[in-house]
Amino acid sequence: MNQRIEISEDALARQRDVMERVAELNAARETPPLALVDTYGCQQNEADSEKLRGMLKAMGYEMTRDEYAADVIVINTCAVREHAEQRVLGNVGALTHTKKAKPSQIICLCGCMMQEPGMADRIRTSYRHVRVVFGPHELWRFPEFLLRQLQGAGQIFETAPSDGCVAEGLPSARDSAVKAWLPVMYGCNNFCSYCIVPYVRGRERSRRPEDVLAEARALAAAGYKDITLLGQNVNSYGQDLPEGVDFSDLIAQINEIPGDFLLRFMTSHPKDAGEKLFSTMARSEKCARHIHLPFQSGSNRVLSAMNRRYTRESYLDLVRMARAYMPDLVLTSDVIVGFPGETEAEFEDTLRLVEEVRFDALFTFIFSPRTGTPAAKMPDPFTREEKQRRFDALVALQNGISEEKHRAYVGSTQRVLIDGQEGDCLTARTSGGRLVRLPLAPSLTGTFQTVRITGSNTWALFGELI
Ligand code: SAM
Ligand code: SF4
Ligand code: F3S
Repeated sequence: MNQRIEISEDALARQRDVMERVAELNAARETPPLALVDTYGCQQNEADSEKLRGMLKAMGYEMTRDEYAADVIVINTCAVREHAEQRVLGNVGALTHTKKAKPSQIICLCGCMMQEPGMADRIRTSYRHVRVVFGPHELWRFPEFLLRQLQGAGQIFETAPSDGCVAEGLPSARDSAVKAWLPVMYGCNNFCSYCIVPYVRGRERSRRPEDVLAEARALAAAGYKDITLLGQNVNSYGQDLPEGVDFSDLIAQINEIPGDFLLRFMTSHPKDAGEKLFSTMARSEKCARHIHLPFQSGSNRVLSAMNRRYTRESYLDLVRMARAYMPDLVLTSDVIVGFPGETEAEFEDTLRLVEEVRFDALFTFIFSPRTGTPAAKMPDPFTREEKQRRFDALVALQNGISEEKHRAYVGSTQRVLIDGQEGDCLTARTSGGRLVRLPLAPSLTGTFQTVRITGSNTWALFGELI
């Protein structure tokens, strides 16, 4: 069991005092100050950004999208692939212009990239317009960093190595009034050989079941209709707690909360998913008929080199078991092509697994070496062009499958949650998370409706309200 660090109520109360002091300083201004929070990466980062916005609002800031108008800019970064990092560094570089136009602007960088060894030094020497740099473990101290800046402090760097902590009760300004993220655990212990997340997000820490349940109850009471439980591997929820509540128990307990809402979760690691999870999903009527179950590779040699701790055969068994419990289950997955040394035959094993499982959708990534991970040191003889060719072949195969699967919905009726508007369409999601576009109709956002599916393509379904 890991040493679990919970931020004390005293320490959190000190941050609340700081928020009040900043709010008083800001109240003395003629117009409210403006803040911009920009987010890269996964849902965990989106949930963290909602907390940053919650803290900023409590300190008197209003939100803006205009980087020239913003008094405070926070960029919440992702380190999972090189491409995401390059985008961040490019955009941070461009902020020299906004800082020059508004010298009082406070530019902050946070999130996973800042926790990488060497990154803080790189920012210190090459991005001098950045005032505050902090890693994911220091997010709860953001008010203190901001106050110090307002008081004229020099650059702040708070990125010490850490196994991580749990900070409860931070305010959150949610992006949507319909869909909510609900982190149930933080960090990862799995150390897949390609992945940087365990290094930057620390060890697995579960939130206490009573804290998760209280937040879920509050969300249901506030009218949220789509609640997604978040964790890098939700199936190991609770292993670090004395309560003896595992992830399936948590689903069953949230399912009992009164209200009409859908319960989703991500991500499940195949090594820890099993019969208890599927049977609980099947009998929990609020639980969405969707599971995101990343397989990463169809080759046993590659899976072993990735340190995934399951085999192609055990993954296929798991899919069969899940579908036996829930025949209407929507199954999505992540896959990496071009892992170091992946041969053409091994890539074909991935293609064959995709043909066999017939996922509803697939998130496909080209391997990106991450400094400090074992895979970054493995011999990697295949060229970028070769990897791109494999990537294109896999995407083409999956697009055909997605298109066929979507076509099978045409003529059916579906209960969907209307979650927003895009151009001249309403957007909605099925229980399995499939996107449905509907003709515009007033005041339906946030309601469940029954629709007839009239058309489809690779990415979406089209329907009409019944
Ligand atoms: N915890 C989740 C799990 O184990 O499935 C995934 C989290 S990760 C943020 C999301 C996806 O990014 C992974 O499933 C993997 O496919 C991909 N990924 C992670 N590291 C990568 C790397 N170095 N290069 C390419 N893709 C990577
Ligand atoms: Fe990364 Fe593996 Fe952890 Fe997912 S389970 S976050 S892929 S180390
Ligand atoms: Fe990126 Fe960190 Fe998520 S590395 S994918 S933002 S956990």
